[in-house]
Amino acid sequence: MSGHGTPVAMSSHKSTGLQGQADVPGDKSISHRSLILGALSVGETVVTGLLEGDDVLDTAKAMRAFGAEVTRDENGTWHVHGVGVGGFAEPDQVIDCGNSGTGVRLIMGAMATSPITATFTGDASLNGRPMARVTDPLALFGAQAVGRAGGRLPMTIVGAVDPVPVRYEVPVPSAQVKSAVLLAGLNAPGRTVVIEREATRDHTERMLAGFGAQITTENTDEGRVITLTGQPDLTPQTIVVPRDPSSAAFPVCAALITEGSDVLVPNIGLNATRAGLFTTLREMGADLTYENAREEGGEPVADLRARFSPNLAGIEVPPDRAASMIDEYPVLSVVAAFAKGDTVMRGVKELRVKESDRIDAMATGLRACGVDVDEGEDWWIVKGCGHGNVAGGATCASHLDHRIAMSFLVMGLATRKPVSVDDASPIATSFPVFEALMAALGADIRRV
Ligand code: S3P
Repeated sequence: MSGHGTPVAMSSHKSTGLQGQADVPGDKSISHRSLILGALSVGETVVTGLLEGDDVLDTAKAMRAFGAEVTRDENGTWHVHGVGVGGFAEPDQVIDCGNSGTGVRLIMGAMATSPITATFTGDASLNGRPMARVTDPLALFGAQAVGRAGGRLPMTIVGAVDPVPVRYEVPVPSAQVKSAVLLAGLNAPGRTVVIEREATRDHTERMLAGFGAQITTENTDEGRVITLTGQPDLTPQTIVVPRDPSSAAFPVCAALITEGSDVLVPNIGLNATRAGLFTTLREMGADLTYENAREEGGEPVADLRARFSPNLAGIEVPPDRAASMIDEYPVLSVVAAFAKGDTVMRGVKELRVKESDRIDAMATGLRACGVDVDEGEDWWIVKGCGHGNVAGGATCASHLDHRIAMSFLVMGLATRKPVSVDDASPIATSFPVFEALMAALGADIRRV
């Protein structure tokens, strides 16, 4: 778990010519889901390419606490011997999900329709995040939740003894909420229906279908209507986790802003519900190409090639693209600082309830580095300085948020003066090899 140890301050210094291949780790969203669905099927699920970041390791521990056997062999392949839908045992200890909103929300959903009780906690960041968005729909199945004021962790969920299926329209664009409801629906009889007005990442739906559940998605005037038939026998799978586009974003953006760079980031999952950043960067004039586009394990995949792009221009990011790049706004705001003109980001209220308030965290650090930012509750505008004109020279707070830490470290590669972050330890939640990978490309990032 991150953020509980000694803070690790880092600084990032002007670099030139990032070169080479960036092998980023496995997709975080798909890694969590592989372990949870593996635990809910009977037999052995085999997972290669699993992200071995703290968030996912906390989910692996949690699945053990609910009775699944989860092991890693000497080749780095993971083996999950599941207990089946409805087979979760009651944990005899508090489930600590560390920094991971995805972990805790999906696991709450997965246990909420079994007659067991579990108590969840996390680090200071996770314990400050809203959980009512998940416990409200879980109550419709018959589960009860008791937590701290404002629906915060630590929180105990008493699973429904006789769960009923639900029909639920997700009030915020959130794949975590959608997934929690679908996972709860697995152990309810009959059909559970989830409606989302805006499409969010669809890994849960794809993976449930892969494990043999009956699940359909229809695009209607109401939005995406997802129907799951409860109480299936899930069949264990062999899963090859694609590499994470949200992690690829960091070496890609570093290459775009750093003079003389040419970086290849192979095997990146380009599911349309995740790839909004790359579309946006190309619209800003980034020299970013997709090579060797193909399909792997039911997901579209390509090698990304990013080269230094001195003539980036600010754009208005379409609000209906927000869900497909929700984790990438922090690093986009860094690229926007090096572009000419304004980058306008609207419809992004959800950024305020991530691992940190990401609009506030980035706006504060960008301003300290000499970049003008305007912001409102659900929008912000970064006023680009143009290449070569971003001052830097500040220490930025990471607020226990891996993506804030990595964004500012990317920024310092191209600012006039170095940029520091007060604590880079949260990077271990999603991208444990970040420091070594960036160093191998030629980035001058140092421990302070
Ligand atoms: C995730 C969904 C998103 C995203 C998070 C991962 C998932 O959160 O920010 O990093 O794996 O389902 P929300 O559902 O809160 O938008």
